[in-house]
Amino acid sequence: MKLFNQGGSVGSAISYAGLIEKIEILRSTLRWASKLERTEIEKLLKQATTLRDEVMQLSHKERFVQAAVAEPVPADLAPRERRQALLERSFIFEGTFGDNPKLLEALEIAEKAAPTDLPVLIDGESGTGKELMAKVIHANGSRTDKPYISVNCGAIPENLIESELFGHKKGAFTGASNDRRGKFESAHTGTIFLDEIGELPLTGQVKLLRVLESHEIQRVGSDETISVDARIVAATNRDLRRLSEEGKFREDLFYRLSVIHVTLPPLRERRDEIALLVAYFGDEAAGALKRRPIKLTPRLRDFLMNYAYPGNIRELRNLMYRISCLAGDTADLEHLPQDLRPKPSAPALVANGSVPVVVDASTATSLSEAKRAASDEAERAFLERGLQEVGGTVAELARRFDMNRSHLQMLLKKHGIHSKDFRNQAAAQGGKAR
Ligand SMILES: Nc1ncnc2c1ncn2[C@@H]1O[C@H](COP(=O)(O)OP(=O)(O)OP(=O)(O)O)[C@@H](O)[C@H]1O
Ligand SMILES: [Mg+2]
Repeated sequence: MKLFNQGGSVGSAISYAGLIEKIEILRSTLRWASKLERTEIEKLLKQATTLRDEVMQLSHKERFVQAAVAEPVPADLAPRERRQALLERSFIFEGTFGDNPKLLEALEIAEKAAPTDLPVLIDGESGTGKELMAKVIHANGSRTDKPYISVNCGAIPENLIESELFGHKKGAFTGASNDRRGKFESAHTGTIFLDEIGELPLTGQVKLLRVLESHEIQRVGSDETISVDARIVAATNRDLRRLSEEGKFREDLFYRLSVIHVTLPPLRERRDEIALLVAYFGDEAAGALKRRPIKLTPRLRDFLMNYAYPGNIRELRNLMYRISCLAGDTADLEHLPQDLRPKPSAPALVANGSVPVVVDASTATSLSEAKRAASDEAERAFLERGLQEVGGTVAELARRFDMNRSHLQMLLKKHGIHSKDFRNQAAAQGGKAR
């Protein structure tokens, strides 16, 4: 019986995948070899233990540097095999679910980018998993046990941006009653996630660019420079290239941030995964709510399979939590939010791909199409009425209905509704009233 030759396996030259493979060979030898002496078995077991120890000794970073230089994934590999290959390389998914080729491509890019310090720009529609992807990058890199600091650039008032990012000195401005460190300092040695980077005002962009170039910050009101080593991951649901062409986003900052560019696919481009996601989030919600997984009536299932999901995975996840919370044993259409519930008749829009197509519920060729059309019409009417009431201010509408602003923007885009038209209308009415 030829025992596995261990020579040369100890040391840095051996790859992580190679070690795993050797362990597998040993395991199958133990399982399938018919006549093994007791001493041989003991020897094999000892080799397996040594190899396993070697794997455990490889640091997190080494494993992923090796993943980064691993052979490129053959293009013709089936999605399931690509996911399996990631798993075998101990890739941390952080709960990212799905086998869509575009999603897998994004994960494979993340795997390669994670162990480096290169900036990563993640784009994709609202709710496609940008923040989750930022966490995936952090978790798979060498900074995983260091801070991960998230900043929502769209949520900070313009006059506070600088202080929020870089900190301030006591007395730097009214209200600065103490020295305060900013997000960059907090993220030192770790990762800073700059969410909604497209909302960063131009003044903030200039300052950010300077930090990216010098790796130094100055607290507001201080001359002292402080070195910071923070890996930058930025995200946006806007087209930064177009914004930079329009002069709303600095082109040099765009190129600095997008050394690695990851785009996440919208749910409508991975419709074949909706059934799995419904089951997945149904189970997740059941776990969180400590109840049995919800059952769905055929018509609710039909709706969930065909709905356009402008809010992407977040919307699907929230729907599953909502119906799991509201329904008893079985959920039906009545457990959907009112504005989504299909209403028969009346013409409607359906998001079938990115281009809205007009479908009339009365001429729809299937029940699901009729329901979708009716649901979309209700959504449209709701948005138009709401915009009318708030004079076309989307932020106000979002506040009033307790909705996420980017989700609302997505819905408006889906229906081709321009909030500007309602503002103009309100202004015209205001003019007439005077
Ligand atoms: N591929 C996925 N698998 C499992 N869950 C996902 C996936 N993508 C997103 N999610 C879940 O959907 C929700 C929204 O994701 P996330 O917050 O990362 O989206 P986002 O793109 O940052 O959205 P927004 O642009 O609105 O900020 C989260 O609960 C997240 O865990
Ligand atoms: Mg986000």
